[in-house]
Amino acid sequence: MPIVKKRRRLKKKYRIILFFICVFLVLFIVIKTFFKKDESNNVVKNPNSNNYKSLITDNIESDHDSAIDTIFTNGMNIESYKAILDQKANYMKSNGKYNYIDYDFDSKLHYSEIEDIIASELIGMDAEDIATIDEVLREVDGTDNLSAIGGNTTVAVSMAVAKAAAASYNMPLYKFLGGNLVNELPFPLGNMMNGGAHAGVNAPDIQEFLVVPVGAKNMVEAVFANSSIHKKLKELIQTKDSNFTGGKGDEGGWVPNITNDAALEIQAQACEEVGDELGIEIRPSLDMAASELWNADEQKYIYAQDGIKRDTGDQIDFVKDIIETYNMFYVEDPFDESDFDGFAQLTSKVGDKCLICGDDLFVTNKEILAKGIEMNAANAIIIKPNQIGSLSETYATVKLAKENDIVPVVSHRSGETTDATIAHLAVGFGSPMIKTGAIGGERIAKLNELIRIEEELPNPKMGEF
Ligand code: PGA
Ligand code: ZN
Repeated sequence: MPIVKKRRRLKKKYRIILFFICVFLVLFIVIKTFFKKDESNNVVKNPNSNNYKSLITDNIESDHDSAIDTIFTNGMNIESYKAILDQKANYMKSNGKYNYIDYDFDSKLHYSEIEDIIASELIGMDAEDIATIDEVLREVDGTDNLSAIGGNTTVAVSMAVAKAAAASYNMPLYKFLGGNLVNELPFPLGNMMNGGAHAGVNAPDIQEFLVVPVGAKNMVEAVFANSSIHKKLKELIQTKDSNFTGGKGDEGGWVPNITNDAALEIQAQACEEVGDELGIEIRPSLDMAASELWNADEQKYIYAQDGIKRDTGDQIDFVKDIIETYNMFYVEDPFDESDFDGFAQLTSKVGDKCLICGDDLFVTNKEILAKGIEMNAANAIIIKPNQIGSLSETYATVKLAKENDIVPVVSHRSGETTDATIAHLAVGFGSPMIKTGAIGGERIAKLNELIRIEEELPNPKMGEF
């Protein structure tokens, strides 16, 4: 008996020794990996600070040069590369005729072939020189409308390069683009109900019923206000449409089978009730996507749900009346994309109390915006990077808009992924409003990123119009 007991004790002893050896090995591997990562990034710690935000690279030049190699060679697991794939999937759905053509997955080059073509041109370039990189991308494509490799491909590479350059400074993209003093967050323009091309035949003709929590004091409050309106509207829709079961459109807004008027009424009611509950002002807004309603043969806007046709004069009166009745904060694309004159007439009548915004009208194009500025066609512009094809061209349009008091509204697309780059663009470009939707993973991804940015900023505040 005593012998058996002793053996058991010995075994226990070995087990303990073995346990410590394992713990030592795990610690050794973790420490070694940690130091290896630091070394490969050429990162040194600011001796005056333990804050990770103060880390700087000790060889900025070579980091920029190698950033592009990183994207295309060993970058399979880096965030920048992931952004390429995410943006790639962010296919274009708009029918705006000036939009750049997206890469056609089925009929053209395979994605890896595109990657080879682009990589061979860009490797060795400085990732910080985004404008030159964007020019090279245009040369690689070789067409006027980026139809060879696709606007989504060029914009994805352009953004990935900017992210790589920002990463070489250990900076978030918004700070790299906007500088150290940026501290304004955009008001989220949330999609609440969908009609038109984003919904079914019995839905309202107006494409998007939106809200802006203009009284929100911070991003968290703004995001919460929008999701509360979305929730409230489900209840209100059910009082008008007894068959409503919660169907949603492309951007997460409800798709009710109700008239335009009924939708406008409950939209205003939700803003008032939720605004009172939360103690902040929430204003209704619209994207009319009127190019989808315009019938060029008849020269009329066709409101199929209401059974009404309106010529341009009627449309001006109709939209003006909606803006005044419901105290609209923002109306996007109230006329066909070729009708600069209709836009200009409406802007001169109500531009002092409502943002009149061009999406299909301007398609993020600097030259088209210049024409709009000349004609006083609008006082806001939707900014969709994949409409124009690169980050530098997007920035050029934003810059021209701001110089002329046109509010730039950075925007998602109806087809989206969880890529959150536009949140960084909105903050970095100082856009006072971002169009992101209110619910759904791919929309929430942008909102969460904005909340993270708000947490990170030393002195955050909401944007100014
Ligand atoms: P799109 O729609 O992304 O399909 O262009 C959104 C919009 O019209 O704003
Ligand atoms: Zn639009």
